[in-house]
Amino acid sequence: MRETSAMRVAAVIVAAGRGERAGGGIPKQFRRIAGRTVIGWSIRAFADANVEPIVVVAAPDRLPEPEDRNAGVIVVPGGETRTASVRNGLAALAARPPDVVLIHDAARPGLRAEMVRALVAQLNAGALAAAPSLPLSDALKRVDETGRLLGEHDRSSLLRVQTPQAFAYSLIWRAYGLVGGRAFDDDLAVARAAGAEATLIPGDPRLMKLTFPEDFPIMEAILGGHRAARVGTGFDAHRFGAGDHVTLCGVRIAHDKGLLGHSDADVGWHALVDAILGAIGAGDIGQHFPPSDPQWAGADSELFLRHAAKLVGERSGRIVHVDVTLICERPKVAPYREAMRARTAEVLALPPDRVSVKATTTERLGFLGREEGLAAQAAATVEMPA
Ligand code: CTP
Ligand code: MG
Repeated sequence: MRETSAMRVAAVIVAAGRGERAGGGIPKQFRRIAGRTVIGWSIRAFADANVEPIVVVAAPDRLPEPEDRNAGVIVVPGGETRTASVRNGLAALAARPPDVVLIHDAARPGLRAEMVRALVAQLNAGALAAAPSLPLSDALKRVDETGRLLGEHDRSSLLRVQTPQAFAYSLIWRAYGLVGGRAFDDDLAVARAAGAEATLIPGDPRLMKLTFPEDFPIMEAILGGHRAARVGTGFDAHRFGAGDHVTLCGVRIAHDKGLLGHSDADVGWHALVDAILGAIGAGDIGQHFPPSDPQWAGADSELFLRHAAKLVGERSGRIVHVDVTLICERPKVAPYREAMRARTAEVLALPPDRVSVKATTTERLGFLGREEGLAAQAAATVEMPA
């Protein structure tokens, strides 16, 4: 048995389909699920298993995002059918043939490196073709074209076959040469038409093919499970000075004093910005918007909050919940609480039930009790790729 490391293993990911059944505006393989493109999940799994090159077969008018075209990825044009697209992918490898090629649907983002290794191990052990498969669990019925029930179909002799399907490259390339221009459902069928036997290994329900609109939330739940929640906290205080209003969580409140600070001194949002930055480990508000920088004088804190939210998005994170506590004797916050909540939710593009704004006093103790200043603390829960 040869060492895996000694085998050259390449992949062909077919991504030239239009995803008509899935709808959704752009082809399903380029939509985002749990912070990554659908095809990006498979590219990552192959790369994790040291597969190289990864040939992505795509329609010339719909190429993968730059983030999915890193080192090791080659993009070639697709064909009219899946079979034609695979053929183009295999052809791109012909000049420097690998030992093994894994052929995979871009529409199956639940691929993991372990599955790649398990398939390659079969070829290492002498198989010429290997694929993951699962039994059927639902009852099967035959129907006519109108959907009228005709009878039962025995499921005991049936299996569902997934991708990736692994082949000795020389075998599958020869098989594609033999079958001519016919279209097949998968590549095992091509190999079989050329007389090759396949080894089936246990499949993975996560490898389901995104086909219909309702498949997307299911996959989002499966892949989103690989995310971890992080909590960040923030605190801010500003001194009272002359003025006629304060701005708290984006809401202007008439008051007999104002808050001093380089921007609009919105302590609620400043604490919240620090909480969000804390959750993603991105420093603090002063680092992003130095108080010494005149461009932030009198700035609307909405700018800071939007910036923090943008940084979360850039890291493929998602703000799950935020909670702000304002600490002061006066002004009374209660009448403005709902407005603050709505404004914060609006800026963060969150439903209002994921935003909490609370208030408390310090029972007249300390600088807050003496109304020398106003303080706020905040917590932000952010979900990030694990
Ligand atoms: N595919 C391809 N070239 C084609 C047709 C399909 O590369 N001419 C790819 C798809 O991008 C997908 C895989 O083959 O990754 C499986 O095909 P399917 O699930 O049928 O995807 P679509 O053809 O895109 O979807 P639909 O049939 O709903 O239009
Ligand atoms: Mg199709």
